[in-house]
Amino acid sequence: MSKIKENISIYIHWPFCIKKCPYCDFNSFVTKDIDHQKWTEAYLQSIQKYYSEILQDRTITTIFFGGGTPSLATPNMISSIINALADISGIANNIEITLEANPTSVEAQKFSEFKSAGINRVSMGIQSLRDANLQFLGRNHSVKESLHAIDAVSKIFHNYSLDFIYALPHQTLSEWETELREAISLANGHMSLYQLTIENSTKFGAMARQGLLNEIDQDIAADMFEMTYNITASHGLDRYEVSNHAKPGYESLHNLNYWRYGDYIGIGPGAHGRITKDAVKIMTVDKKQPEIWLNEVMSKGNALEINQTLEDEDIRIESIMMGLRTVEGINRNLMKCKDEIIQQLIKDGMISLGNEKICTTRKGLAVLNTLTGMLCS
Ligand SMILES: C[S@@+](CC[C@H](N)C(=O)[O-])C[C@H]1O[C@@H](n2cnc3c(N)ncnc32)[C@H](O)[C@@H]1O
Ligand code: SF4
Repeated sequence: MSKIKENISIYIHWPFCIKKCPYCDFNSFVTKDIDHQKWTEAYLQSIQKYYSEILQDRTITTIFFGGGTPSLATPNMISSIINALADISGIANNIEITLEANPTSVEAQKFSEFKSAGINRVSMGIQSLRDANLQFLGRNHSVKESLHAIDAVSKIFHNYSLDFIYALPHQTLSEWETELREAISLANGHMSLYQLTIENSTKFGAMARQGLLNEIDQDIAADMFEMTYNITASHGLDRYEVSNHAKPGYESLHNLNYWRYGDYIGIGPGAHGRITKDAVKIMTVDKKQPEIWLNEVMSKGNALEINQTLEDEDIRIESIMMGLRTVEGINRNLMKCKDEIIQQLIKDGMISLGNEKICTTRKGLAVLNTLTGMLCS
């Protein structure tokens, strides 16, 4: 009898952008001369030389091309990677293959080629429907271009998601409400709605340290979070994770796999992986610098910075941290904290307990960091 193949997801990191946004601390770089052929070869080397042994025993359920701005990569690179994975692994019938895209005119022209390459889901970074906000966020597209890109993507893809950033320092509750309603009218089955985080290592972080930028008032941000839930839910786009909203059947299968702590391979500068092998969970992190990554992969098939076995306690903590982000919850037996803590959090309406599963409530999602700290202890 043939062995049942375990599921796995694949994350491919494309580290390049046209412009660095002042709020972004993702591993992304602005580089003029990209040798697309060489990058394609490097991803293929990594798949065929380093990961083929794991991949041949697995069924791939999702592939996610993230970044950076992978919509700047060539459709040929995308199809070569998908084909190389399919040559080695089993492929799920309902495989989800996502591409992150920016809504500039360059990308809008390429959507049909990406579809032919095998992409069946697009996640587009619209960020705002106000030109002044796009300027504040340092984006290199206008609202007009975004509307054109949404129109183009909706004609080609049944499954697409729109990303927005709200809780900008100057934004009022009613401004966000009006913008959100417009955003919903453009959306299909999925929206990612992120509150602006001012990350230390970014230009916004430096501006905040110099007193040139203030975070939004936390009470207003909390009201925005609550309102975002109410309005999206009234349009059938339920919040299934802190920042993610979907109609039934449109949830991101790739991200759900992270939150459920399933296995995934991460390939590309700075990409992370979690792979179960011989009953142990291995954490991988690729080197972050694109040139170093490229050269090491071309010479030895991988550019791993970290490749280590996780201890049981690390696995427990990571599973809790991931699972609490979702409304579907995590197994009660992962918790080691005192029962009184759990009972108090239930009483305070932060979590619910049913069928031995602990689920974060709407109230709990709004204070997730505190909640996670208490339940990880
Ligand atoms: C890293 S980007 C990659 C996709 C694409 N390059 C883009 O900019 O749309 C993924 C998403 O993360 C979100 N994001 C990145 N940095 C953020 C921050 N500091 N605060 C809130 N959201 C952020 C944005 O909404 C963005 O769409
Ligand atoms: S937000 Fe997107 S486009 Fe902007 S720098 Fe980060 S990855 Fe690049």
